[in-house]
Amino acid sequence: MSLSNLRKVIFPAAGLGTRFLPATKATPKEMLTIVDKPLIQYGVEESLASGMDEIIIITGRGKRTIEDHFDVSVELERSLRDSGKDALYHKVSYVSRMADVAYVRQKHPRGLGHAVACAAPWIHHEPFGVVLADELILSSVPVMQQLRMVYEKTGCSVVALSEVSPEEVHQYGIVAYEQEGDLMRLTDMLEKPKKEDAPSNMAIIGRYIFTPRIMALLQQVQPGSGGEIQLTDAIAELAKSEGVYGVVVDGQRFDAGNPLGFLKANAAIGQQHPEYGDAFKDFLNEL
Ligand code: G1P
Repeated sequence: MSLSNLRKVIFPAAGLGTRFLPATKATPKEMLTIVDKPLIQYGVEESLASGMDEIIIITGRGKRTIEDHFDVSVELERSLRDSGKDALYHKVSYVSRMADVAYVRQKHPRGLGHAVACAAPWIHHEPFGVVLADELILSSVPVMQQLRMVYEKTGCSVVALSEVSPEEVHQYGIVAYEQEGDLMRLTDMLEKPKKEDAPSNMAIIGRYIFTPRIMALLQQVQPGSGGEIQLTDAIAELAKSEGVYGVVVDGQRFDAGNPLGFLKANAAIGQQHPEYGDAFKDFLNEL
């Protein structure tokens, strides 16, 4: 298998966003804005910066605004151009041209593993990435690029990890691992374990690179935690057959799929914003 044909990234975006109700009643979680861009755009930009430019978004009912966001808005672009608003025109037209985006509909909410498996016909035996857009990670080297480097070194699937507190392990996929030189080889993993069952406090944080074999394993795994087809269960199987590595990511991570993490992400990115950053910092100091 060629290691260089890693261009596709799947964005599961069919979830109900229940942690963020009522904001997500009629707006997809992925479209909530951090400063001036929706969450999913950050994930797509991270993928592009990691050399992965074929985007597959898994959508469901009520997710049409995601498609509109990455589509050409002919009237808006014409109006901005005609009225000489060049900077805004470039921001808007950039979004519709930034990547090749395809959409796959997940008809039934059967879990993250099922969402990823919905894209199987578009993967064609190639390796691919998965990005959960509600995990926002600020880093100098894009996180998908950090994973890609380990994938290219090992030829194996790679997942992003971050340490969490024992009180938080029940919210994540938690891995067991062995150190192999400077790499972490995963030996097992559990989806949302109780504190006493967690094999470590290293959590999977929504960035993955997979060899195509994961698709076959996703067809075989039985419903797990929450009665859903869990991606984590298929990765555990992959770890036993092909091997899977973990990378503790270098960056600042925000779980922007819940209101507190979202506020923190807005505060951090707001302060770095080239246009609003200084004024926002002044405002925070005055508070
Ligand atoms: C999903 C995964 C879980 C992972 C988490 C990261 O869970 O199933 O393994 O740790 O994302 O955010 P979810 O948050 O969708 O329930």
